[in-house]
Amino acid sequence: MKATFVTLIIAALSITGTASPLEASVVARDEGKTVRVREGPNAIQKAIDGARKGTKIVIEKGTYPEALTIRTNGISLEGKPGAVLMPPQHFVDNACTGVAAKANASDPAEPTTQAGICVHGQGIKLAQDFQTEHQRVASVATYVKDISIKGLKVKDFPVNIMVIGARNTDVKDNVLQHGRRYGLLTDGSYDTTVKGNIVTTTDDTDFIAVCMDGFAGAKAIENKLTGYAIGFCVQTNGEVIKRNTVKGTCSGISVDAHIDGVKIIDNSITEPKDPSLCRGFLIGILLDGASNTEIHGNTIRGHVAPAPGGGYGILGFDEPCIPANGLACLYDPTPSLLVGNKITNNVVRGNGQDIVVFESTPGANLVRNNDY
Ligand SMILES: *[C@@H]1O[C@H](CO)[C@@H](O)[C@H](O)[C@H]1NC(C)=O
Repeated sequence: MKATFVTLIIAALSITGTASPLEASVVARDEGKTVRVREGPNAIQKAIDGARKGTKIVIEKGTYPEALTIRTNGISLEGKPGAVLMPPQHFVDNACTGVAAKANASDPAEPTTQAGICVHGQGIKLAQDFQTEHQRVASVATYVKDISIKGLKVKDFPVNIMVIGARNTDVKDNVLQHGRRYGLLTDGSYDTTVKGNIVTTTDDTDFIAVCMDGFAGAKAIENKLTGYAIGFCVQTNGEVIKRNTVKGTCSGISVDAHIDGVKIIDNSITEPKDPSLCRGFLIGILLDGASNTEIHGNTIRGHVAPAPGGGYGILGFDEPCIPANGLACLYDPTPSLLVGNKITNNVVRGNGQDIVVFESTPGANLVRNNDY
């Protein structure tokens, strides 16, 4: 019965479609050179290709039909208001090509996925392609370091920004619109900070707003997410998700099986999608067999679905990890128990059920001082 329930929820979710390190690294990468880019064929990529370590590339207002590849350490992109990156007529394949699964893997007419901005290291070995969510990184020979992307609008790519095989990347104050599979995906990277971005779509088939499948050091702070099936997909141990606003999703924050020590603090998750677009399930925060998550100071409201057992503020359960249950279970098909999670001092109101924790060992998780 529980496996069926878990499978249903996973299936439902997978069908539809501080002191930041920025300030310190800006000083380190500033070698005094700024390049300005205006509209023109491949204007931004040409500037990137000509840039040495430490170059800041300022992108003036305009429309840029380009897909960018960044692999030189210490490059900063800074969009001026009105600088918009959108898909070109033709893509040149790079390290990000095909990393995100297509919406329909068995449809030969659907093109291979591409990223609008691909920040990538060298010698990236991908783990096996399971044709679900994305391919995980097995190893990286050389990481690209200290890249920053700021102030740009990036729209309509399969993945608007992908960070793969990188260290110390800052993605700050951008608008990422209608990324059909991912607004932002960080994969096989260390220390990615995603701060102050607006990640938005009005297309109900769009899949995940922000997914951080890094090796360590993932942070998502003060972003505004609207309209995806999943707001945050949490696949990095110790990931920090703080002061974000999430609206219009089926699942606001999903912490995957085998993921440990995540901090979910002071976020607001309200006004979910119409449950008919979510196979009847609405979940504010899902702990899918996650361990030692700290969840406090969050406000979660309005996850109400007509079917009984369809709407949850916070839902946690042991994850048996049958293969249908998503990427985390495909890579590690051992059961993942819901243990050591602390759910305290949240406001969880007006949801079908506010907080539901199915634990196999009574008392394995702490639920205390919540307002509901
Ligand atoms: C995926 O594509 C195949 C081949 O075109 C098609 O037969 C199938 O119905 C599609 N599946 C969905 C869910 O759209």
